[in-house]
Amino acid sequence: MPRKYKGVFIVLEGPDKSGKSTQAQTLGKYFHSLGREVVWTREPGGTPFAEAIRALLLNPLHTVSPIAELLLYEASRAQHVQEKILPALKAGKIVLCERFTMSSLAYQGYGRGFSISVIEKLNRIATQGLEPDLTVIFDIPEKYFVERCRKKAADRLELEPAQFRERVRRGYRELGKKHSGAVLLVDGKKPLSAVQSRIRREIDRLLRKDCL
Ligand SMILES: Nc1ncnc2c1ncn2[C@@H]1O[C@H](COP(=O)(O)OP(=O)(O)OP(=O)(O)O)[C@@H](O)[C@H]1O
Ligand SMILES: [Mg+2]
Repeated sequence: MPRKYKGVFIVLEGPDKSGKSTQAQTLGKYFHSLGREVVWTREPGGTPFAEAIRALLLNPLHTVSPIAELLLYEASRAQHVQEKILPALKAGKIVLCERFTMSSLAYQGYGRGFSISVIEKLNRIATQGLEPDLTVIFDIPEKYFVERCRKKAADRLELEPAQFRERVRRGYRELGKKHSGAVLLVDGKKPLSAVQSRIRREIDRLLRKDCL
């Protein structure tokens, strides 16, 4: 299907502490070095209103009902897509986004047990049908999550039990296999430089194919 905009939409997905932010930073510098304009962003959040929703969602002091949680993620996404992602793509920029629709499927679908088809419908409404040109999924085992968590205070979702994180990880692996768009599943426990090279190889391949 022909793309509706000039820009490129790359999403970095994966469980907590899998390396999304670290790799996004390095990837951003790489795109700059190629002379491309890059917009870094994240979910939940990305705009002032959506960041306010993020603060509510991740605050460990709140007890949030699963349906309220799902709808707040989708509300944040709707604002983010409309206000920031679509305008940047229409202006021909590369949008590097940490987490997007697949996070709702992995966390609220596989993690909390909501129907995947309901979340897919909500995702379509919130995104106006926008889909990533490439989704990179980082996979790390539990022990790496525990090690990497020691460096920073945990947010509300990171305080969920290990069984929840295991369902989320399985979710990502399954979603990666059945996703209709371009997906790259990366071993997030490899050294930083090896992970970055793997992502760049895929991006360079897509650029050569003129997909991006
Ligand atoms: N491949 C790697 N090898 C070793 N350490 C890593 C690797 N990737 C990330 N880290 C370290 O793990 C920690 C978490 O990484 P990062 O913040 O990039 O993950 P994240 O997926 O963005 O996490 P979150 O979901 O909390 O936003 C950081 O301290 C980072 O330096
Ligand atoms: Mg991060």
